Amino acid sequence: MNSISRQPSPRPAPVLGQTLVMLAFALILGGAVAIPFFYETQTLWYKAGMAKTLLRTGQMAGLLALVLLLTQILLALRPRFGERLFGPAVLVRWHKRNGLLIAGAAVMHVLLVVVPEGINNWPIGVKHWPEMIGGSLLLLLLVTVLLSHYRVALGLSYPGWRRWHRPLGYLALSLAPVHVYFVSETFQHPLPFAALLLVLAALLPAIIKKYTAL
Ligand code: HEM
Ligand code: HEM
Repeated sequence: MNSISRQPSPRPAPVLGQTLVMLAFALILGGAVAIPFFYETQTLWYKAGMAKTLLRTGQMAGLLALVLLLTQILLALRPRFGERLFGPAVLVRWHKRNGLLIAGAAVMHVLLVVVPEGINNWPIGVKHWPEMIGGSLLLLLLVTVLLSHYRVALGLSYPGWRRWHRPLGYLALSLAPVHVYFVSETFQHPLPFAALLLVLAALLPAIIKKYTAL
């Protein structure tokens, strides 16, 4: 027997599994951005024409940012099924790129939802605490992405950066549900609420497991 025939054959890429995961992700993303069409908020009732389109698009951008943020945590946790299907390097690469997408979607959300209201109507003050939570979340996301992308230029060591990155990431994950639940009626409808709760309930044990394994 020659040496070539003794070599183990390379594992076939799990194409079916990869396709199913991608399809499920596309469905979740599509379902999330369709929410403002199925569950119109009261704020949409009082708008017409371009103002209504801008607000609805802004809501879609917020929902996109939310789904990508939840995906970001899943990618960071590097679950075994994900590593087996795509490989750890791909999960890390997607995590890095997805950070930029989250920041972009969050900025679009704010530009489309808040800016058209005019500076006199900007939601600032205790009365607008759910929007202020959104503001803190936006700031947190931008800081996290900037610190990560410019870590070397900023002279941060990898362990030093990582010490902050992890809690900042989980703080963002904690603030997002508070903002989205209290800022509009969308997540008070049973279906969006149950979907959000289900995802958080699925992520929590994985986070606890990762932390306790340290
Ligand atoms: C300065 C920062 C932010 C402000 C002032 C803000 C403000 C708002 C407002 C006013 C709404 C209600 C829109 C309406 O229904 O009329 C809203 C909804 C929402 N926001 Fe934010 N937001 C901010 C940041 C964020 C961030 C960073 C995220 C990312 C996770 C986010 C995700 C959402 C989602 C998912 C909704 C629900 C969309 C819907 O109503 O269907 N927001 N936000
Ligand atoms: C919205 C932005 C982001 C959030 C919410 C986030 C969240 C997280 C979280 C929670 C972890 C820790 C997972 C664990 O418990 O082990 C993590 C790990 C990591 N993140 Fe991010 N991240 C974001 C953006 C980025 C960006 C932009 C980069 C790089 C350019 C990045 C690179 C990494 C790397 C390399 C790790 C692995 C650290 C290690 O285990 O040594 N992240 N991220």
